[in-house]
Amino acid sequence: MGVIDSAIASTVKQAVDWYAANKESGLPYAISALAVLVVVVFWSVSSSLNATSAGKVWTNIIAYSPIFDQFRSARVTLKNYIIQNLPPTVKHILPFFGNTIEYGIDPVKFLQKCQKEYGDTFTFLMLGRMMTFTLGPDGNHFLFNVKLKDATAEGAYETLTVPVFGKEVVYDVPNSLFMEQKKFVKDALSTAAFKSYLPIITYEVKDYLGSVFENLQAGQETEIETFQTMSELTIRTAAHCLMGKEIRDGLRVGSVTKLYHDLDAGFRPINVFFKWLPLPAYFARDKANLEMTNLFKTIMKKRKAENDTETLDVLNGLMRAEYKDGSKPSDDAIAHLMIALLLGGQHTSSTTSSWILFELARRPDVVADLLKEQSMVLTGKPDTPPHLLPDLDYESLRKLTLMDCVMKESLRIHTPIHTIMRFVENDVEYKGLIIPKGHFVCAAPQVSHLTESKFPEPYKFDPLRHLGSDEGSGEWTINGVDIAQKSARSLFLPFGAGRHRCIGEQFAFVQNKTIVSLFIREYVHKLPVDKKTGQTWFPEPDYTSLITIPKVPRNLLVKKRAEA
Ligand code: HEM
Repeated sequence: MGVIDSAIASTVKQAVDWYAANKESGLPYAISALAVLVVVVFWSVSSSLNATSAGKVWTNIIAYSPIFDQFRSARVTLKNYIIQNLPPTVKHILPFFGNTIEYGIDPVKFLQKCQKEYGDTFTFLMLGRMMTFTLGPDGNHFLFNVKLKDATAEGAYETLTVPVFGKEVVYDVPNSLFMEQKKFVKDALSTAAFKSYLPIITYEVKDYLGSVFENLQAGQETEIETFQTMSELTIRTAAHCLMGKEIRDGLRVGSVTKLYHDLDAGFRPINVFFKWLPLPAYFARDKANLEMTNLFKTIMKKRKAENDTETLDVLNGLMRAEYKDGSKPSDDAIAHLMIALLLGGQHTSSTTSSWILFELARRPDVVADLLKEQSMVLTGKPDTPPHLLPDLDYESLRKLTLMDCVMKESLRIHTPIHTIMRFVENDVEYKGLIIPKGHFVCAAPQVSHLTESKFPEPYKFDPLRHLGSDEGSGEWTINGVDIAQKSARSLFLPFGAGRHRCIGEQFAFVQNKTIVSLFIREYVHKLPVDKKTGQTWFPEPDYTSLITIPKVPRNLLVKKRAEA
């Protein structure tokens, strides 16, 4: 009891000091409301420490009831005061909100500023959650290889992903099972499958761009909404290659488009914090999940009846899959994994091709080199006119080294996923500091990517800096050996590392390299001019969704390439 008494006493003192320090800033706190809150929180703290059964009941009510959801984080905040050796806490004025606004507006700038002031490890308060960042190569290594007993991805993302993807997959199952599911997808994405994807992607790109620019006369210029155009190309190509021709046909008639949009609309940061709100978007999301699951199940039934083993899409791969114990994933699980892949790869890929086009728009010299590279690889000479170049196949696409570097450089500067989170399940030590249970521990790949000592002039688009480097990319396993562990102590991790490393990386490279290569063959593009300033307009990053996309306006001026 002595420990608890002193814990409570020191917590009370801290709370009183905190209140006194913040009173002058005019915070509109009713004393009585605060007192009630403090009593509930102290009860929770003490009950979790002495673990009496009554305490446990209270802890569980507070931890799991949606109404008390926010108290849980307040409890974590107060518990922090009684643990020594915590990471430094970033200054803030507003309780509960903490640094939410600053982080929300520009997380990269905010984290860079914190890194300067506090070093690589620090904690800040965001909507009642304590967010601890571990930056730098060591921090990346720690986060991406943290032990499952200490911190989990499912603890961080489960509320966001399970309602969208569905049950029995990803963060709804124990990590070991999800790892087997990832392996199923990896196995389905074989070299033979990639070879079969190239003609499909080529067809889809030509078909869609042909329709967009159908009425464009030679020499005439038009404006495109870049992110929308790339999103359409991404969903058409991914659906056709990975989901199968039936889902692709569903996009044509619009039935799948609506389901996709309802699922996607349920995939918002707000879910992480307010999963229990009765929002219409959540009802639409749940309905869409059910309908999409049923659609996949109907397709599977038909394929089983027809004994279709030829098609090399991921759906067929999953239908053949078997867990180590000999059981097979249920049809629901397969459908839910397909939904996860559809959602997981959509915005990440469409933002990547968009940013590549924006960067290339101000570097016609790089576009010229990319065309020369295509010409060399496909015809053995540097100056074959683009309209006479043969179609790309998988082998030739792999040889487009400069195109690889362009994509890597774009991912470095415009990293689609800026923050990667894990939920701390047990107090965990990092470099002598304790990151307490209940915190979110996070990596920020984009902050690493902008480290001056590693990438001189970090904001300069310089694709050649990646020449000869395979850092940040690579196979998930080589000859059965997991190399993800090795690459985690790195400053270039656009696809993450460790057990949660991306399995869509290779597909993303094939998809985006093909889209951009075909686009620049047929069209010349440039940045529009801002009428007010007379300067060309390059979009800012938009951090309001989970993926960093170009902020509106995000248009490009496009005309058909003259056939010399
Ligand atoms: C340029 C495109 C892409 C980028 C930048 C990207 C980035 C990432 C990152 C950073 C992670 C690690 C997340 C974490 O550690 O919490 C990840 C995981 C993952 N990605 Fe991607 N991704 C891309 C494309 C794709 C595509 C096309 C697919 C599907 C076909 C996909 C499916 C996945 C899956 C299933 C995971 C595993 C999640 C886990 O294990 O927890 N990604 N991706």
